[in-house]
Amino acid sequence: MLAAGLKFIHIAAIAIWAGGLICLPFIYRQRSEVGVEHDLHRLHAMTRFFYIAILSPAAFIAIGSGTALIFAQQTFVSWFTLKLVFVGFLVLIHLLTGIVILKLFEEAGHYPTWRYVMVTAITTAVATAIILIVSSKPEIDMRDFQTEFFAPGRLGEMLEPVFAPLIRLVRP
Ligand code: HEM
Repeated sequence: MLAAGLKFIHIAAIAIWAGGLICLPFIYRQRSEVGVEHDLHRLHAMTRFFYIAILSPAAFIAIGSGTALIFAQQTFVSWFTLKLVFVGFLVLIHLLTGIVILKLFEEAGHYPTWRYVMVTAITTAVATAIILIVSSKPEIDMRDFQTEFFAPGRLGEMLEPVFAPLIRLVRP
């Protein structure tokens, strides 16, 4: 019951967060269409409210409920690692798109069409990748990625030449 409740909150918060991030470039694009000072201030206020009061809390609730779900569902599986890599990209997009708001509403602020299309496409691709991973839960054998570099004890071997002189100093 707890897991079902957490998952409901998780997916609801994600729908607002990911959906909002996909829509934000379209809102930024309106900046170039607004001529009247009054409308510019209204668009600025609405964009800030959308980002600060809706998107960011939704992101926190999505990540918080997701973290609780890890323990409620014991989700200690490899596909989840891949999911969190893409969630990291979504968080990066959230931060970078927030910085845009600081500059966009200055005198010469402008949001070109190519950027609107590119950011919308990248955000949609990242959110879709996450949903594909969590719904397919692919069998990933981490040993497939275990190259010689990641072999147990390899790090010690690599650092030995660096630390050996120091160790000899301490323990002649
Ligand atoms: C740090 C952020 C996140 C954490 C810790 C997290 C964690 C989790 C966990 C533990 C589950 C349960 C998995 C299972 O069924 O065993 C889950 C389910 C799910 N998550 Fe996340 N998640 C995060 C972010 C996201 C994001 C950004 C999305 C989508 C854009 C997402 C989409 C989903 C979906 C659709 C499910 C339901 C999967 C199912 O029931 O089969 N999650 N999440």
